Order: sequence, then C-alpha cells, then structure tokens
Amino acid sequence: MSSSKWSRRNILKVFGITVGGTFFPFSLWAKNENGEPLILPDNPLHQRLAKPVTAITLGAGARGNVYGDYAIEYPDQLDIVGVAEPIVLRNERYTQKHKIAAENRFNTWEDVFKKPKFADAVIISTPDQLHYGPCMAALKMGYNVLLEKPISPSEKECRDILELTKKTGRIVAVCHVLRYAPYFIKLKELMQSDAIGEIISMQHMEPIEHTHMAHSYVRGNWHNSKTSTPILLAKSCHDLDIIKWMLGKKSERIQAFGDLKWFKKENAPKGSTERCTDGCAIESVCPYSALKIYYRNRQRTYVFDLPEEKNKQGDAILNFLKTTNYGRCVYRMDNDQCDHYTTNILFKDNITASFNMEAFTPWGGRRTRVMGSMGFIEGDMSQFTVYDFRTGKSKKYESNVLDVANYKNEGHGGGDWRLVADWIQAVSQQDPNLLTSTIDASIESHIMCFAAEKSRMEKTVEEIKM
Ligand SMILES: NC(=O)c1ccc[n+]([C@@H]2O[C@H](COP(=O)([O-])OP(=O)(O)OC[C@H]3O[C@@H](n4cnc5c(N)ncnc54)[C@H](O)[C@@H]3O)[C@@H](O)[C@H]2O)c1
Repeated sequence: MSSSKWSRRNILKVFGITVGGTFFPFSLWAKNENGEPLILPDNPLHQRLAKPVTAITLGAGARGNVYGDYAIEYPDQLDIVGVAEPIVLRNERYTQKHKIAAENRFNTWEDVFKKPKFADAVIISTPDQLHYGPCMAALKMGYNVLLEKPISPSEKECRDILELTKKTGRIVAVCHVLRYAPYFIKLKELMQSDAIGEIISMQHMEPIEHTHMAHSYVRGNWHNSKTSTPILLAKSCHDLDIIKWMLGKKSERIQAFGDLKWFKKENAPKGSTERCTDGCAIESVCPYSALKIYYRNRQRTYVFDLPEEKNKQGDAILNFLKTTNYGRCVYRMDNDQCDHYTTNILFKDNITASFNMEAFTPWGGRRTRVMGSMGFIEGDMSQFTVYDFRTGKSKKYESNVLDVANYKNEGHGGGDWRLVADWIQAVSQQDPNLLTSTIDASIESHIMCFAAEKSRMEKTVEEIKM
C-alpha cells in the first residue's frame, strides 16, 4: 500500500495552487516539519481585498465566536463591527474582543435592523428557530449573509429565504462546513474522477459519541425537537448534504426509521436522582454523569461562560449543575430526540445511499464507504483508503488538518474557517460561485431532511420534490 500525506506541497498540487499565487498572511503559529510557515491552499479566484468585509454577529455564542475569531486572526479580511446578543456577559466579551462601538451593540437581532444598514454582512449564529427572521430582515435591507444551518426548521421558510436571496441577488452562504474540509474535498474529487469506476452506492455514518449526545441532544439546546429542530436537521443535515454533494446527483426518494430508545424515564437506574448532584447512587459508574463530564473532566464547559479565574470555575460549574439542564439526570429530561436514525436514499441513476446517525459510539466524526464498479473507498474523516480492483492496489490518504488549513481553528476537519475565507471572497467580489454551499446548493439536503422526518413519522417512502 502506498501512502499519501496531504502535506502542504501535495495539497497545493491537488488544488493546483502555487505558493506565489497565495496572498493570505502567513500565520506565525503554524509551521511544517521543515519550519516553513504553512499557507492556505487557496482558490485561484480569491483576490486580495482592498478593505476587510464588515459584519455584524447575531448570536455571540459558540458558533458566533468560531466565525468571529477569524476576524481576530485575519483583520485585513474580516472586521466585526456589531453584535446582537441577549446574554450580557457574552455581549460584553464579544464587544471587547472585537472593539465594537457602543452604538453597534444590541440585545437582540431585531434591533440591528432598526438602524440603517451599517455593514456589508450579517453572521446569523442565533438558535435554530431564530434564523428565518434575521435572514429575511437582512436580505430586505441588502445585507449579505453567513447563515448557520439549519436554514430554518420549516420547509416553507427555507424556500422563502431561497426566493428572497434570488430576488435580492445577495450572497447567502449556508454553514455546511464539511464541504470546505480538505478530507471531503479530496474524497469528492476521487469519487467524481474514475478512481473507483462508476459509483454504485454509498454508506455513510455519523457517530455522535455518547457524551456529545447527552450534552447536546438530551440535556442541551437541542434536546427537544419542538423547541429546536428534529435531530436529523439539527445534526445530520450536514451528512445528507455531503452525501448529495459528493455524489453530484439529484436525490429522488427517501425512507427513514428512528427512535428515542435509551434516554427515557423507564430506563432510569434504581437509585438515580433528578440531578447528578442530588446524591445519585450510581453517579460514580454512570457514563453520563454530569459531575464526571463537566466537573471532574471539565468537558464542554464552554456553555457555562465560566469566570476567567481558574480557582472560581469549579464552584461555578457546580452551581450550573444544580440550576440548569446540564446537571439533570439524562433519564429524567424532557427530551424527545432520536438516539438512532437510519435513512435510505435513492439518487438519480439508481445510486443508493444509506445513512446512520448513531448516539452510542466511543468517538465522533464520520465514517464513509463508497462502492464503485472498479474499486472501493473507506474512510473515517482523518484518513481514507482507495482500493483499485483493476490493479489490486490500494492507496491511503491522510488528512493533516493543520497542514492544509493553516488555521488555528480546525473545527469540522478545517472546514469552519475555510468556509469563512470563501464567504468573505464571495461577499467582496459579489460572486456566489466562490462558494460551494450557496443557499441554492444547500437547500436540497434540508428538503431531504423534511421528507425523511415525514417518512419516519408516517411510515412512508417519500419523493424528494425540489
Ligand atoms: N455549522 C455547524 O456545524 C454548527 C455546529 C453547531 C451549531 N450550529 C448551529 O449554529 C447555531 C448557533 O449554535 P451555537 O452552538 O452557537 O449556540 P449557542 O447557544 O452557543 O449560541 C447562540 C446564541 O444566540 C443568542 N441569542 C438567543 N436569542 C437571540 C436573539 N434574539 N438575538 C441575538 N442573539 C440571540 C444566545 O444567547 C446564544 O448566545 C444553531 O442554529 C446551531 O444549530 C451549527
């Protein structure tokens, strides 16, 4: 077996870019094994900006900070000039980080649009059910948009946003960040070439990881499908999107099964209590113990906006566990999200794909298998192997995110900041072709999700009507 590490030179070759053609500032933090600064393998259509794109962030939570941090690293490309965020501490921290003028700080997204337009774009990183309002308002006022997925929890609202985008001609990028991850870009390139002959079928799995499931979809913001969105849309619209994107075919029919099987009251162990802090008899052996996850292991504590002083953080976490959903027993929540979900999709030319979202795994990421007439690909989002039936040989590709992304932020396989880089260019040049996740290209995955949910609830096979 031969191995191909996606070193800077390899990836530059893969993307057909020359070092001289790249203008992004070198990051001092990242160097390759020879001590050379790493650079972004860039799109040749990218141009040097005369001035940074200005943006207002709506929702300064986790995602608002991921995108906002790009402006800190690349101030010549992105300048955050406004923020709307109701949580006072988040608003304050974001304002300080980006040196936002007092008159451009707002409590809620509605207030931003009461002022005349004062930036090129808005970043919509509010909760799922607060995407439609700000997106429609922004488009009506002529703003360009970076829109977190899901586009909206309702099919009609997704279609409305698409229609208004077309009418206004503004740029709307949907944050389908996996499309920008070098791993998936390379995988798609091989699938679209003759590497494994004609594509026959695909299997794709999203292993959520059991404590991530407990955090986000049992205790956290997305625990209830009615107050957020069904888990397929909330978590796996990325996956239906990436399957469709890699196949490059229109989806035609979909069928789904899924259920909440484990995180329910009837499965609460004997001796367990309402909260993990209430003296639960099995706390020390429960893999979902909030005390273990947040207090002892200090995982995912970003949701608590902890004090900066380390010696105050432990008490603050304990207080949150006593007062918020994050301290509640996973078997006694008011959650309804499926913890296993299976869909089968028929694409044009009779290509089939199956997708599984699984809560009960030791790891996250993605696992993908592609069956072709002349070969087979198997990957786990950090590496994949291409088997060629014609030669009997196989080749392994490894993704070295730091190497290819040149970014401090490696989120979603390097896709998070690569999306921002392309969006900035698209806004600056007013050219949606610089993006792969335009609203036009992204909406099909959402329609697939709505159809899958209908299939799951009504036990039908649904046609995907665009
Ligand atoms: N692209 C991805 O891979 C990805 C990953 C995680 C989350 N998301 C999506 O991003 C969005 C944000 O998720 P998050 O994890 O950052 O959540 P978060 O809760 O950390 O951030 C959302 C922020 O919006 C603020 N907010 C609430 N109401 C508001 C209002 N009226 N006006 C302005 N701000 C308001 C909240 O106070 C919060 O700080 C969600 O739609 C989520 O589904 C996408």
